This record gives sequence, structure tokens and C-alpha cells, in this order.
Amino acid sequence: MDIDALTHPTDPQLATHALTEAAAAAGYAPSIHNTQPWWWRLTGNTLELRLSPTRILQVTDPDGRLATISCGVALHHARIALSAQGWHATVTRMPDRTDSELLARLHLDGRAPVDPASVVHLRTIPLRHTDRRPVTSTPVDPAGLAAITAAVETQDTHLHTLRPDQVLELAAATEHAQRSEAADPAWQAELAYWTGPARPAGTGIPDAAIPQRATRTTVPSRDFGHHGDLPVSAGHDRMAVFVMLYGTADEPLAWLRAGETLSAGWLTATEHDISVVPHSAPIEVIATRQAMRAMIASIGYPYLVLRLGSTDPADTGAAHTTRLPTEQIIDHA
Ligand SMILES: Cc1cc2nc3c(=O)[nH]c(=O)nc-3n(C[C@H](O)[C@H](O)[C@H](O)COP(=O)(O)O)c2cc1C
Repeated sequence: MDIDALTHPTDPQLATHALTEAAAAAGYAPSIHNTQPWWWRLTGNTLELRLSPTRILQVTDPDGRLATISCGVALHHARIALSAQGWHATVTRMPDRTDSELLARLHLDGRAPVDPASVVHLRTIPLRHTDRRPVTSTPVDPAGLAAITAAVETQDTHLHTLRPDQVLELAAATEHAQRSEAADPAWQAELAYWTGPARPAGTGIPDAAIPQRATRTTVPSRDFGHHGDLPVSAGHDRMAVFVMLYGTADEPLAWLRAGETLSAGWLTATEHDISVVPHSAPIEVIATRQAMRAMIASIGYPYLVLRLGSTDPADTGAAHTTRLPTEQIIDHA
């Protein structure tokens, strides 16, 4: 760390610019149904990350687990943007017990040497996306899988690679979760809102990102209730690898940290030409979440299942989804 630079006062305009850029980079973060359930408050040298209650899926995600994980990804993207621009920031997670929507506070301490790994990640942020097409027939590179695992592993968050018998269990759990969710008209209405024409501008999942027909898979993909426009091959995703992100606690701080490690893992995967598709249906339903927990012998709590697959580097990939304009998610106090 460049202690000398840190001892120099920070130019307020430069700080505002850096924090605005960080919030803008965070806007590319993936989120459940592309709800982007975050907004930022910028005051002087401080950027606060806040949960946006109107963009939490009340039926699918009543505890805000998936929304908080999504915000954790956004937080990590913002941290990456700051260290790539040569800033040192102190992060305080859940700083106010009386304010559950305040997820984190980023305070700019001053200049620091540019972190080269963050520069690489910052370039990856706009390239990363969810590609729901079947994976290619090339096996996932073990070195890539090891890099993803290393990026995700922290003291509190871990990655478990499912064995073939566990993939079959996952398939059954996903099938069960999707069937029980689809039986609820309120759940169907919520899904239709975020994937249909009434979704708020700049949010939700467009038809361009939803397969035009059912894909051939062992583990069922998210049933969006309708087919989209995304062309898919007749290939089977038998070369996919399924991993489970899990950790030592099941509460908002743990979900936020899980999102941060999801960001680190997903950016690393993209840099290794490995596609990632989250599978959250088995986490959304209590019974199947417990079945997922049994898979890791109850040593932790499951946060998300991810399908990993090799991508063809020459393939431009599936369509990217839109985002809310930056000025709509930053409040300059
Ligand atoms: C916590 C979380 C859960 C998600 N669950 C699913 C899922 O079950 N199925 C799916 O196809 N995509 C899932 N996604 C991917 C989002 O739909 C996707 O990130 C969002 O639409 C934005 O698109 P992008 O990732 O291409 O930028 C999930 C993403 C997050 C962060």
C-alpha cells in the first residue's frame, strides 16, 4: 500500500468521480431476474450501498436472500473499480444494526497503487453475462475450476463441486422446487412481471436472453413460463459441472459476503472462458434448500448452485441484458 499517498488529502472532485465510476461499474452486476435491488448514496468520500425494497421479489425471495447476494456482487464490482483506479477504500458491512437496508459503507481513504488483478477484473465486468444455452462438448478446464474455487474460497464462503450422484439429486430437487413454485399464482405473476413487457425499463429478463425452446439438460433450467428468442443448439449439457456456493451462516451479512465471492468467482470464470448460470430455484424453496444442505452434510448453508461450462472463445455469446441508468441508482446527498 502506498502509505505516502494515503496520507495526502483526497481531492473532493476526484473522490466523487471515483465513487460515481464505482457505482456505475457495479451496475453491471448480475441479480436475480435482473431486478438490480440496490441503490447508492454518495456523500463526500463515502458511498453507501442500500437495498432497494421495491426491487425485492416478495414471493420468490421473501427473506431477501437472493437480493442481498445480488447486492454483494454489486459491492464487489464497486470495490474492484476502486482498486483498479488506484484508490484505497475501507468497507464496513452492515454498519448500522437499526438500518437493515444499509448493506455497506465504502469510505475512500486516499490513493493507493493500482491493483493489476483488479484492472483485469474491471475489463471483465461488462463482458460477464448469463448464457443459458447448452454448454459446449469441451470439458471444463480443471485449472479454470481450480482458479474459480480459489477466487471464491474465504474463511466463511466455500465452493463444493457436486458428484455425479449429487447432480441427479440436484435435478430432482430443481424439478420439485420449480413445480411447487409454479403452482402458486402469485409466484407466476411475479415471474411474468420481471420477464414480460410490463417490467420496469432497464430491468428484468428480455426474451433475447431466454432460450427459444427447452434445452436438453440433466438439471432443469429455470422455467421462465414462456420461450424467448435466444437460439439454442440441440446439444446436451452433459459436460456441465455443477458447484454449490455455501458458507458458515444463513443471515444477511453472510449473503452479502456470498455475493462478493460470487462476483470474484464469476469474473474469474469469464476470464477462463467458463460460462456460469446460477440455479437458484432449489434455494428458493425451503424443502429443497434443506436437501441442498444435506448434500454438504450440513456443514454450512447453501447460497446458490452454479452451472459451469466451457465456452467457445470465438462465440460472441448470448445477448446482454439492460440496466437501470446510473443516475437512477445514485443519490448525491
Ligand atoms: C442471486 C442470483 C440468482 C439467479 N438465479 C438464476 C436462475 O435461477 N436461473 C437463471 O437462468 N438465471 C439466474 N440468475 C441470473 C440472472 O437472471 C442474471 O444475472 C440477470 O438476468 C442479469 O443478466 P446477466 O447476468 O446476463 O447480466 C441469477 C442471478 C443471481 C445474482
